Amino acid sequence: MILVFLGPPGAGKGTQAKVLEDRFGYRQISTGDILRRHRNEKTPLGLEAQEYMSAGKLVPDDLIIRMMEAELAGAENAIVDGFPRTIPQAEAFDALLASKNITPLAVVFDVDYAVLTERITGRWSNPRTGRVYHTLFNPPQVAGIDDEDGGPLVQREDDKAEVVTKRLAEYDEKTKPLIGYYDGKGTTIHVDALGDIASVSQAIIAAIPDLAAELVDP
Ligand code: AP5
Repeated sequence: MILVFLGPPGAGKGTQAKVLEDRFGYRQISTGDILRRHRNEKTPLGLEAQEYMSAGKLVPDDLIIRMMEAELAGAENAIVDGFPRTIPQAEAFDALLASKNITPLAVVFDVDYAVLTERITGRWSNPRTGRVYHTLFNPPQVAGIDDEDGGPLVQREDDKAEVVTKRLAEYDEKTKPLIGYYDGKGTTIHVDALGDIASVSQAIIAAIPDLAAELVDP
């Protein structure tokens, strides 16, 4: 099964992807994390993506589609977090999966934008693994240190208020139409993402029969 996590910045997509990865062995494929790794390693893709990411803009479709064709080769049980983000990306993704006879299931994080700023400004993440924490809602055991690998946590440079405003505008204009795209195909579930982290996890698992069955019948 391929799950596509759809929702605005700060909705909790990365957090929930890690929960499903830990509990069910699904592989999280996060375009944001992959791009940040390219940027940190100063690859040609990372250098090109950098100017878009720091301005809060989407990276051009052709770069993303090429990157994801390579990342998705062989992916079976996976959570795709942050892709597709435009209609052309969704069409390219569909074509890729059709050759493997897979229909992705889109999980839409329904969230009130009022909570996003607080979630984003309190976020600290592990740049090595992509695991995220929150100073109030999901703190690490030791401030600034990852519970798992003991390395430092960082704040993202695109989490500054003015860049977040631009990211939300990009989401509204280019990504939100994908909800209608997947709703139209009947391959969507909507999840209330306003509750705490555990209740959002429960809502996702309850809405996906294959996952709920694994918990009942391990
Ligand atoms: P990306 O890294 O994908 O960022 P995003 O989509 O903006 O999403 P975020 O990572 O900000 O939020 P999230 O929903 O994962 O929330 P999280 O779980 O961390 O993309 C970054 C950039 O890369 C883009 O701007 C673009 O430039 C580029 N890019 C990426 N993909 C692209 C593509 N396909 N095409 C073009 N460009 C692309 O949670 C947020 C915080 O809230 C955390 O601190 C967490 O602990 C906390 N939290 C989570 N859930 C809850 C809860 N239920 N209650 C309380 N707190 C919670």
